[in-house]
Amino acid sequence: MSEETTTSEIDAEAHAAQGRGHVRFGCYALLVFIALGFALEVFHAMRFGFYLSNETEPRRLMWTLAHAHGSLIAVIHIAFGAAWAQLTADPRLATATLCLRGAMVALPGGFFLGGLWVIPPDPGIGIALVPIGGLLLVAAIALVARQTR
Ligand code: HEM
Repeated sequence: MSEETTTSEIDAEAHAAQGRGHVRFGCYALLVFIALGFALEVFHAMRFGFYLSNETEPRRLMWTLAHAHGSLIAVIHIAFGAAWAQLTADPRLATATLCLRGAMVALPGGFFLGGLWVIPPDPGIGIALVPIGGLLLVAAIALVARQTR
């Protein structure tokens, strides 16, 4: 076996491992955000005032958005991991992975923190993380799209 073949096999293995990493990260993140969905369900069942009262209305919106965006970005991680073998191996994909992980934390995390400390009728300062997470998500998707050529 030539040295060149060995190197490309190692690259292919690293590429496949990157894809599996996305599926793993996405599954654990989905568990976290589905657990948040169950928590919201409990807040309704118990009629908790800190979640359902008029004064804390922004909290309900923010935590619902954290749950929904977190679940959706986790599914994007899993979808990217499943499609990883279709992408051309490239160092830029490592940047895409970092951006998507950053988006997974900043976007739903910003909504969650924005609801943790509310300044009615506005969410708290944590909401500032949301546009950063949005930009990271756009960057990750654009980088992955490039590697489908
Ligand atoms: C992939 C999985 C899931 C996705 C993508 C998802 C997405 C969403 C979305 C988009 C909303 C907002 C609906 C609206 O306000 O119009 C929502 C709300 C909600 N979800 Fe999920 N969901 C998922 C799983 C779950 C699970 C497993 C539970 C727990 C039983 C759950 C509990 C809730 C609750 C209680 C709300 C309403 C929160 C409120 O309005 O106070 N979700 N979800």
